[in-house]
Amino acid sequence: MGSPQVARPATALWHSPGARLAREYEDRMTTAATSSAVTAAMRHALSLAARGPVAGVNPQVGCVILDAEGRMLAEGWHRGAGTAHAEVDALSKLTSEQVRGATAVVTLEPCNHTGLTGPCSQALIEAGVARVFFAVTDPGPGAGGAARLRAAGIKVTGGVLADEVEQSMDVWLTATRLGRPFVTVKWASSLDGRAAAADSTSKWITGTAARQHVHEQRAAADAIVVGTGTVIADNPELTARGDAGELLPHQPIPVVFGGSPLPADAKVHAHPHALIQFTDRDIEAALRSLFAQGIRRVFVEGGPTLASAFIAAGVVDEYLVYLAPALIGGPRTAIGDIGVGTIADARRLEIRDVRRLGEDLLVVARPGFSTPAYVGGDA
Ligand SMILES: NC(=O)c1ccc[n+]([C@@H]2O[C@H](COP(=O)([O-])OP(=O)(O)OC[C@H]3O[C@@H](n4cnc5c(N)ncnc54)[C@H](OP(=O)(O)O)[C@@H]3O)[C@@H](O)[C@H]2O)c1
Repeated sequence: MGSPQVARPATALWHSPGARLAREYEDRMTTAATSSAVTAAMRHALSLAARGPVAGVNPQVGCVILDAEGRMLAEGWHRGAGTAHAEVDALSKLTSEQVRGATAVVTLEPCNHTGLTGPCSQALIEAGVARVFFAVTDPGPGAGGAARLRAAGIKVTGGVLADEVEQSMDVWLTATRLGRPFVTVKWASSLDGRAAAADSTSKWITGTAARQHVHEQRAAADAIVVGTGTVIADNPELTARGDAGELLPHQPIPVVFGGSPLPADAKVHAHPHALIQFTDRDIEAALRSLFAQGIRRVFVEGGPTLASAFIAAGVVDEYLVYLAPALIGGPRTAIGDIGVGTIADARRLEIRDVRRLGEDLLVVARPGFSTPAYVGGDA
């Protein structure tokens, strides 16, 4: 890790206690031993971040405070909107004497934003922290914390373990960068790619383990999305439930796309959250509206018509395909027209994971970015 150049700011903050200590500890904190302490601390901060809630408007963030010798003084993580940010959580465990001259290692750039809590960059400056290492730049309204810290004379280094942290924060980062929720499309199908039988029945194509996995995914999402066709055909509850059918602590908001009126006794009306319905077909506008309502991850459960419309609109970030060892045949394919008229236009995916769930297989895929060299038929 390189030693960053700190431009001396023409501000009285350069003379703050943190800035003086930054100069004092500069040499010690850039030795190889300290770099490895920072990397280890970042890895620990990443594991702390994972303790925070996966759903919600705020990212999972972890923070470790090190002394000038690279030893851990305190740790913190963010427990959800309205609670202390990771840096403030860690700082709260230390006396002002301990914090002076310390190094903060944070997975996300300290925020520069006053929301339900104050800016973390300011809290770090006031605490007298001498150095800050972070992994990923904040792409959202909290951006600017690194610049504020530097302006106060604190040495700041970004990009530590950036790839690992990017990967673990990809849902929040994608949503924040795109201004729409991260979209996962799920379907369960037979090995021959059918999502229902000719009479529209689809309960249950897959077994218990796969269905339980789906409930866990629902519990990790802010919203669960289906079309009116699925509500009318299956009358789903759209809740996240445990093995015994009990409601899990976090419930996704039920969202229905389509203009058809829903039956008055549809089970979704009994959902713990009020239903959101989009009656037109503008998927991008609907996603922007969900984002504005604080929804960062949506789990699209179909059916085939709606899933295909999401794919055709180019807004799918992840696919979860549950494959049952069964053949159904017939016309009810898992997805329909996605605007691919010729094989060269096939939407190529990258397989990220293949897992056995009981008798079934789960395939996790993401949009692929490489164009395959050969896309013709058999020679
Ligand atoms: N195996 C699985 O994983 C799975 C999952 C879910 C469902 N299913 C099965 O799928 C079947 C229902 O399939 P489906 O395709 O009829 O249901 P669907 O995809 O849930 O609903 C289709 C409806 O979505 C609405 N819609 C909203 N925005 C749209 C857009 N941009 N483009 C197209 N449609 C849009 C339309 O409703 P309006 O006409 O009301 O406007 C359309 O008729 C059932 O048999 C069910 O059991 C299987």
